[in-house]
Amino acid sequence: MLTSGLNFLLLFTKMLFIFNFLFSPLPTPALIFILTFGAAIFLWLINRPQPVLPITDLNNQSIGIEGGARKGACQKNNDLIRYYFSDAKTVYEIFQRGFAVSDNGPCLGYRKPNQPYRWLSYKQVSDRAEYLGSCLLHKGHKPSPDQFIGIFAQNRPEWVISELACYTYSMVAVPLYDTLGPEAIIYIVNKADIATVICDTPQKASALVENVEKGLTPSLKMVILMDPFDDDLKQRGEKIGVEILSMFDAENIGKENFRKPVPPSPEDLSIICFTSGTTGDPKGAMMTHENIVSNTAAFLKCMEHAFEPTPDDVIISYLPMAHMFERIVQAVGYSCGTKIGFFQGDIRLLPDDMKTLKPTVFPTVPRLLNRVYDKVQNEAKTPLKKFFLKLAVNSKFNEVKNGIIRRNSIWDKLIFSKIQASLGGKVRFVITGAAPISADVMTFLRAAMGCPVFEAYGQTECTAGCTITLPGDWTTGHVGAPLACNHVKLEDVADMNYFSVNNEGEICIKGTNVFKGYLKDPEKTQEALDEDGWLHTGDIGRWLPNGTLKIIDRKKNIFKLAQGEYIAPEKIENIYIRSRLVSQIFVHGDSLRSFLVGVAVPDTDVLPSFAAKLGLKGSFEELCQNQIIKKAILEDLQKIGKEGGLKSFEQIKDVFIHPEPFSIENGLLTPTLKAKRGELSKYFRTQINSLYEDHQE
Ligand SMILES: *[C@@H]1O[C@H](CO)[C@@H](O)[C@H](O)[C@H]1NC(C)=O
Ligand SMILES: *[C@@H]1O[C@H](CO)[C@@H](O)[C@H](O)[C@H]1NC(C)=O
Repeated sequence: MLTSGLNFLLLFTKMLFIFNFLFSPLPTPALIFILTFGAAIFLWLINRPQPVLPITDLNNQSIGIEGGARKGACQKNNDLIRYYFSDAKTVYEIFQRGFAVSDNGPCLGYRKPNQPYRWLSYKQVSDRAEYLGSCLLHKGHKPSPDQFIGIFAQNRPEWVISELACYTYSMVAVPLYDTLGPEAIIYIVNKADIATVICDTPQKASALVENVEKGLTPSLKMVILMDPFDDDLKQRGEKIGVEILSMFDAENIGKENFRKPVPPSPEDLSIICFTSGTTGDPKGAMMTHENIVSNTAAFLKCMEHAFEPTPDDVIISYLPMAHMFERIVQAVGYSCGTKIGFFQGDIRLLPDDMKTLKPTVFPTVPRLLNRVYDKVQNEAKTPLKKFFLKLAVNSKFNEVKNGIIRRNSIWDKLIFSKIQASLGGKVRFVITGAAPISADVMTFLRAAMGCPVFEAYGQTECTAGCTITLPGDWTTGHVGAPLACNHVKLEDVADMNYFSVNNEGEICIKGTNVFKGYLKDPEKTQEALDEDGWLHTGDIGRWLPNGTLKIIDRKKNIFKLAQGEYIAPEKIENIYIRSRLVSQIFVHGDSLRSFLVGVAVPDTDVLPSFAAKLGLKGSFEELCQNQIIKKAILEDLQKIGKEGGLKSFEQIKDVFIHPEPFSIENGLLTPTLKAKRGELSKYFRTQINSLYEDHQE
């Protein structure tokens, strides 16, 4: 702003000088005034920021089709998109396309601490994938989609090389990841009958070998290691028939025993994405190449004219590689020949990596954005600073509402440039997904980032996204319109009072992005996919009058906390109810919060004697208000929760003690004596809010 202001002044003086020179014989004040005014208008016209106009009618974002489903309004017919580029119908071809359109540009970037990024070109990545894949074939794997290869590593170039090695020879990648826990790793290796795992550190390799030593994973025969390792490990492997090979050696073996690529077809399996449920074992979602390509294509389609990635774009990769959200982001990138830069592997160093990489694309999740938001809010300590921050957000967001997205306003210079610089200063596209984001945070970001910020909604079973907010729609409170790869319908959930005639119900998805079922699990597959191919998401949605979708509830009372952990409140309540101090308990949480709170009704028989032991007297109501009692009940619940096997995020952090039982009469229980969860949340809203306010999230 400062520089453009100076430029303006300079230009203005120059022009006045020229005018004076030209018109000096007739220096009437009126003429000078007119000329000055005209010049000002002219300058304003050429310097005025250009609004981004929406390409669809934002009051009509989806269209009803036969059978009560809806499609995105930009879809001309009812056909679902399968690919965007006719030369890229598999993930393998997507990569080859990036190779071509970038003219073998830089592809994967990585760095050591405090060093600049170093880049592997598209050809280097493609060559190394061919060598690694050839090695796998040389070691006995077949070029076929029934060959499952484990990948167990943090984000780094070798992850992509391993994945591409699979695709180059029609094999299937099966990501393994730490947060699933050691038991899940054993489960997955057995379920997918994995013979080969490509992993990053000797620690992980050692854990894999140990599983074989203990006889837990007999199928494992080979571990390929990205990092250097000791001879010890190799010998341990040899004893039990597991070959340990460095990736470097593996690539050399492949180079010497080179095999021509055997590319997959769109309908072949590409990746099996294991997701953790609330209970039981992880489920392996089977994704085809077409699933990934169609989801990628639908994204590119709806971003036409708003965001078209080029080889100059840089994507920062730090979200888990094993999740489909990150896979789709990268697939979009490769298909357009962009660069992907990896973080160092430590989320605390992400800001430094961002400043060095200067990404143009920032895929993210609410948890991280909430942190940015909180930090900025907390830094504005004085009332004056708070006032200016608010003014800045409002003024900037007013521009955004009119389609003007920029980072050269006075507010950017004064307030937001610091935030923008902390992300490298070049971000031109932000997308958030994986969990819901609050309206406040979203509006703040749209004002502060100076670039479009989109929200996508979906789940692994529909690859990643099924709806997205559209370019030009900067309103909040919805997750946008259906993507061009799927139709979306709402199905009645009678026992929760949601009916499709009221535009409410369980969100169901059918399309080219919908998965093929869970690996070797027909029962769970049947629960998710009905006979007509509709995926039942378990989320309850509502169509808003302008055709956007709003998520309003969860079918089975399962939800995710802000950090992405699944919570089944009823399971938790069933454990807490074992406490003899309470007769009823309600556990509350939602996806905008990072922890749970509860409402407990104490047992009228037990409480008085319990209180007496603590030296407390009073009526039942008075005891319920006593902070010492509350603390004792909370501690008892947490102890019982721990004994009952609750994980720390499944424990309530605070509790409100309520003297009145939940009953059918007061509308808090159903006639079958089940908790009416929606009603309970509404009834105790004030108390719940104050519990959250008492704790830092
Ligand atoms: C929305 O668009 C569809 C298809 O273009 C049209 O049939 C419908 O009348 C539109 N509705 C409104 C409210 O404009
Ligand atoms: C769509 O409708 C919702 C609910 O009525 C509203 O909050 C939102 O602002 C609307 N969006 C647009 C772009 O009109």
